[in-house]
Amino acid sequence: MFHNIPADVLDRMHQLERRDEQDRADGTPRLERLRQIPPETGRFLALWAAAAPTGAYLEIGTSAGYSTLWLALACRANGRSLTTFEVLPQKAALARDTFAQAGVGDVVRLVQGDFLEHADEFDEVGFCFLDAEKEIYRACYEAVVPRLVAGGILIADNAANHRETLQPMLDAALADARVDALIVPIGRGELVCRKR
Ligand SMILES: C[S@@+](CC[C@H](N)C(=O)[O-])C[C@H]1O[C@@H](n2cnc3c(N)ncnc32)[C@H](O)[C@@H]1O
Repeated sequence: MFHNIPADVLDRMHQLERRDEQDRADGTPRLERLRQIPPETGRFLALWAAAAPTGAYLEIGTSAGYSTLWLALACRANGRSLTTFEVLPQKAALARDTFAQAGVGDVVRLVQGDFLEHADEFDEVGFCFLDAEKEIYRACYEAVVPRLVAGGILIADNAANHRETLQPMLDAALADARVDALIVPIGRGELVCRKR
């Protein structure tokens, strides 16, 4: 999976890494910033996604599609496909460019819209990556967990750098008898939940 990343995927990853780094340094307004995961989190997600059970693969919060590219590697490795949700039209347009340039259109479906309005379209979820506005994490968690298949994986980003905002949701997840959960200190902190 990591040893033969296609050149088109790597090129787009590197472009987005440069732009994200610049965004964080030059005071780009929040709504325009890509706010994407670091590469080590991408590898972490791809490993979990490649090992996740059969079912829908979802991503909530696409931005320009950087994390999606890592998840697309997992989809290629295990023959799955992914649906990713982005609410902002300008970010969705960037993501469309990403998926076209990287040639991952066969394994990635982009939905421009609010995930919470689409959650009930998915009955059996094998994997979900949650990386949207922190204020809706709890609602997304409650929408996804009942839909996870046994062994299904939900990973939520920002468990460390937004700890204060997310604390009630993190506490609820860690105490939730429906899942086994753990916060992993990688990148900005990942909450990993596995449906029992
Ligand atoms: C932190 S960024 C995602 C970064 C991306 N996962 C990456 O690592 O490349 C969060 C994104 O979630 C989007 N978003 C926020 N609320 C959403 C919702 N309800 N449904 C879908 N997307 C949402 C935002 O517009 C923003 O682009």
